[in-house]
Amino acid sequence: MRRRTPTAAVVAGRVRTLLAGCALAGAVLFGGQSAGAQEPPVGDPIAGRKVVHICSVCHGSDGIAKLPEAANLAGQNASYIIRQLMAFRDGSRKNETMTVLAAGLSNAQIADVAAYYSGIQIQVMKIPGQ
Ligand code: HEC
Repeated sequence: MRRRTPTAAVVAGRVRTLLAGCALAGAVLFGGQSAGAQEPPVGDPIAGRKVVHICSVCHGSDGIAKLPEAANLAGQNASYIIRQLMAFRDGSRKNETMTVLAAGLSNAQIADVAAYYSGIQIQVMKIPGQ
């Protein structure tokens, strides 16, 4: 029987292949920018849209997760997204996939991704018990 939904491990493998290419492009574009502990710049959602091309496999391009273990990011606070990605990157938060992915993101890319996902408008429709 064919599985229609790829497992996280399969997706993570594909993403690693994708990232190898992106890391190369990133090194050219950003001159191998180091992960300094500076204030993150204000993000650009349009630039972020290009970065989330990788993320969307699991988090959706609309910020609604495609895997049960991934988080919905649509409408999430930008500062929360930034803090989590920086925590994955510096190792204070650990996840097999996200640690690898965040390691390849510059401060500017993190801010751009946060601007993109936080900029997706969401509406609360139903609250259990109400
Ligand atoms: C292969 C699937 C996959 C891909 C691709 C992926 N993520 Fe994740 N992401 C996850 C999973 C799984 C978690 C939950 C980690 C945990 O349990 O701690 C997560 C967690 C996160 C969180 C924390 C959410 C929270 O509520 O605390 C952020 C932010 C995030 N990812 C952003 C990104 C960004 C940005 C990208 C693209 C650069 C990306 N992810 C790509 C699977 C993925």
